[in-house]
Amino acid sequence: MSTPLLQFESVSIQFGGLRALDDVSFSIHEGQVFGIIGPNGAGKTTLFNVLTGIYRPTSGKIRFRGQEVPYGEPESMAHLGIARTFQNLRLFRELSALDNVLIALDASPDFPRPSRLSAVLRTNDYQDREARKLERAMELLREIGIERFADQKTRQLPYGVQKRLELARALALQPKLILLDEPAAGLNAQETHELLGLLGTLREKHGITFCLIEHDMKLVMGLCQPILVLNFGKRLACGTPAEVQNDEEVKNAYLGSRSHGK
Ligand SMILES: Nc1ncnc2c1ncn2[C@@H]1O[C@H](COP(=O)(O)OP(=O)(O)OP(=O)(O)O)[C@@H](O)[C@H]1O
Ligand SMILES: [Mg+2]
Repeated sequence: MSTPLLQFESVSIQFGGLRALDDVSFSIHEGQVFGIIGPNGAGKTTLFNVLTGIYRPTSGKIRFRGQEVPYGEPESMAHLGIARTFQNLRLFRELSALDNVLIALDASPDFPRPSRLSAVLRTNDYQDREARKLERAMELLREIGIERFADQKTRQLPYGVQKRLELARALALQPKLILLDEPAAGLNAQETHELLGLLGTLREKHGITFCLIEHDMKLVMGLCQPILVLNFGKRLACGTPAEVQNDEEVKNAYLGSRSHGK
């Protein structure tokens, strides 16, 4: 098999007395929709935080396209091509949807930061950059299907639209890998169905690999392969939907947890 897009090698992270990730290893290959499941507090979001440089692992290695990635540098991870959405939305609530995407584009490799002088003098280059950025931002909103909300204040948008806006912000980075932390949480059946269609389109059109955390088992089992199961920070299983569903340890972990209805 080709070099994995992403490799976790024996990654652990300790918060005081708690091992939030305990010797976790797995690989994600290009084109996959990789699923991560596990009871509340299993370490799923922590894994994303380690991967995006927010937390520094206590031990272990992470490789992206075979290269070891630097720890604790969110900007480097974004430049490598890893983008994410958050379990609790992180948008600029007082700004418009369009402004949220424009700000994300400032971190994109396509729009290197202009010099302060060119911004102050509003040089032709600067104005050209701003015009291209605006065009790109509108394109992203269109692609995600929320163009008509461009000028609305983010906090006034329906929840499902805000979730899509987070995805537009992630896409602004031209990522190779997008990490989605509970993308279907809070969505109704229709919105979840539309989200699935959208992810499929993005995969085909941009060749993006996805890694998603979800509690909605129907969604995970229908969409993801392989699936990594975490429990108390440990890798419990990793395999096809059928393999993890038939795994005794996985069954026990879920029977032991009363927090999941789905
Ligand atoms: N910065 C931190 N400091 C201390 N403990 C933390 C920190 N971040 C996470 N934890 C702990 O690590 C464990 C794993 O948390 P995490 O948020 O990764 O769980 P999760 O699998 O995403 O759960 P959920 O399904 O509820 O979102 C929890 O016990 C949590 O309290
Ligand atoms: Mg979480």
